[in-house]
Amino acid sequence: MDHSSRSNLPSMENFWMPFTANRQFKASPRLLASAEGMYYTDVDGNQVLDGTAGLWCVNAGHGRKRIADAVERQLRTLDFAPTFQMGHPIAFDFAEKLGKMSPGGPSAQLDRVFFTGSGSESVDTALKIAIAYQRAIGQGTRTRIIGREKGYHGVGFGGISVGGLVNNRRIFPQIPADHMRHTLDLERNGFSKGLPPHGLELAEDLERLVQLHGAETIAAVIVEPLSGSAGVVIPPKGYLERLRAISEKYGILLIFDEVITGFGRLGTPFAVDYFGVVPDLITTAKGLTNGAIPMGAVFASRKVHDGLMHGPENAIELFHGYTYSGHPVASAAGIATMEIYEEEGLLTRGAAMAEPFQEALHSLKGHPHVADIRNLGLVGAIELTPRDGAPGTRAYDVFVDCFKNGLLIRVTGDIIALSPPLIIEKEHIEIIVSKIGDALKRVA
Ligand SMILES: Cc1ncc(COP(=O)(O)O)c(C=O)c1O
Repeated sequence: MDHSSRSNLPSMENFWMPFTANRQFKASPRLLASAEGMYYTDVDGNQVLDGTAGLWCVNAGHGRKRIADAVERQLRTLDFAPTFQMGHPIAFDFAEKLGKMSPGGPSAQLDRVFFTGSGSESVDTALKIAIAYQRAIGQGTRTRIIGREKGYHGVGFGGISVGGLVNNRRIFPQIPADHMRHTLDLERNGFSKGLPPHGLELAEDLERLVQLHGAETIAAVIVEPLSGSAGVVIPPKGYLERLRAISEKYGILLIFDEVITGFGRLGTPFAVDYFGVVPDLITTAKGLTNGAIPMGAVFASRKVHDGLMHGPENAIELFHGYTYSGHPVASAAGIATMEIYEEEGLLTRGAAMAEPFQEALHSLKGHPHVADIRNLGLVGAIELTPRDGAPGTRAYDVFVDCFKNGLLIRVTGDIIALSPPLIIEKEHIEIIVSKIGDALKRVA
């Protein structure tokens, strides 16, 4: 569509868009104007089914009045107050509420909460906490962080250093890090339903990197329990358990980046609960406020938190924080979000919807260009064979086709990723799969 002929469009000149081919987009924009429940409405009034919970964040669906009311109330009561050497009750209330959700159960003691403004900030915060903790317990040589190929941990300098997506890394300087191999293996695990059977041995990469660098140089290892942004990589059976055992053996902290998996995505409140593996730190954002107000949170174990609560009582224990850490309006949105999750059982709803979602997705096997289908909880991926010499263009064309026909999906390279709101019903699953199936038949 030539947008110059449309009257309902804003000027495209000034907004430098993130992770977007700006010139291509602005020549033919896709603009969303409003949203309710499972649907967006675009600026031309077309309904678009949300197959991606916005960007993995609108877990309770769109337009939640309870969140809007809480935000409005808070804005009118206390719009902003600092949290550096000052406080306001609602940030403490939200932290207490999150602490009571106890990822991994009360015995995991993952209930000390550091607020941030986004997933990227949560990641950089967790990396700094890990390094500071090691130093505080007399392990000051531990400054290296281990990440993984294909990992996505946001766009801070820490996050790109431990991340494993080359385009995000190649031109920027980085902090000391090394990487385990990724676990995506279409040859052995193609079309797996749920956890893929092969690849547990890849966790031994952590042992190999310990032998290469020396445990005394490694502060932490960070992984997404299930990585989303790289195109949905689901951990092989037993893999996370093995990472926990190796990290513990060498005094390396384990960080789960749950920015995507946190708050019900796998049919459990956190991936920690799904896998029964307890890390030392968890990073979250996105579903924390249903995407309504930017906010992130790092859950730290009491061991890590208490390890830093030393020294003179008038000394700041961690030289780190953001103007918006514990922002009152974001806290209000977060509390309202948790109330919705609790009252509607959304943090475990994915468990019931996972099976119909899985079966519907796998019915696309045999459609044109489909190289793999994989899924866990309410996350799914359809990987396409790339066009010769033009990787990524086929999935992009499917994305555009789906959008024109009323479905929002997400593509990374030639992988279609799905992560619908947790309020999804079977009829929505059917629409998603049928629109993708039609697009696959149309796209060359
Ligand atoms: C696992 C993971 N970590 C971190 C981030 C970064 O979050 P943000 O975009 O809020 O900075 C993302 C975003 O998709 C993510 O998926």
